[in-house]
Amino acid sequence: MQDYVLAPSILSADFKELGQDIRTTEAAGASWLHVDVMDGLFVPSISFGMPVIKSIRSVSKIYFDVHLMIEKPERYLEEFVKCGADGITFHLEATEEPLECIDSIHKLGRDAGISINPETPVDTITDEMLKKVELVLIMTVHPGFGGQKYIDECTQKIKAIRERIDGLGSSARLEVDGGINKDTIGTALGAGADTFVIGSSVFIGGTEENTKYFVKALRDYKITA
Ligand code: DX5
Ligand code: ZN
Repeated sequence: MQDYVLAPSILSADFKELGQDIRTTEAAGASWLHVDVMDGLFVPSISFGMPVIKSIRSVSKIYFDVHLMIEKPERYLEEFVKCGADGITFHLEATEEPLECIDSIHKLGRDAGISINPETPVDTITDEMLKKVELVLIMTVHPGFGGQKYIDECTQKIKAIRERIDGLGSSARLEVDGGINKDTIGTALGAGADTFVIGSSVFIGGTEENTKYFVKALRDYKITA
């Protein structure tokens, strides 16, 4: 039976209480933490980088799912591993060397993920990539900010990638990111996603209760699926 993973995105956490917010969500049952790195070039916004990740690494052993929204991610893969990433996902729009990036992440002993923006066609992801990676991240908003609305047109892309992952017999996780909340998580689940990045709907208005809600929702879905 498939396992579903909740990956709270700390982009919406309270940064003056970041360590506590991470402990709260971990204690409430989250098994991953989604760490959004933005460079102000690939996306309009700048979030945080290595020193912050290194610092929060010391408060938790939770799986760090690092989402690089940066140009030429190949420049920094080793540094993100050194500061504590367990998995590194980069954008296919951001590099001309996607296969090399995947191989580099593997050589560094970490899980490799690839991501595409809402306007990027799913066939940008080749079968060769799908066979190699541990994770595919379908963006369901335009990356750069938390709290945006789920883009319905992306549901079809989740379905298409689910079919290809299954068709290839790949064990890659299929993650969705952006606008996932109580109303939209069912749509993404039904389309075949198994890993759910949730920022504002976890960290705004009661982190513990929100985390518990989504952990339970995914557990219940697993039982009935
Ligand atoms: C957006 C980031 C997301 C963001 C999601 O560019 O990649 O991880 O934190 O936030 P919500 O869940 O609020 O849409
Ligand atoms: Zn993200």
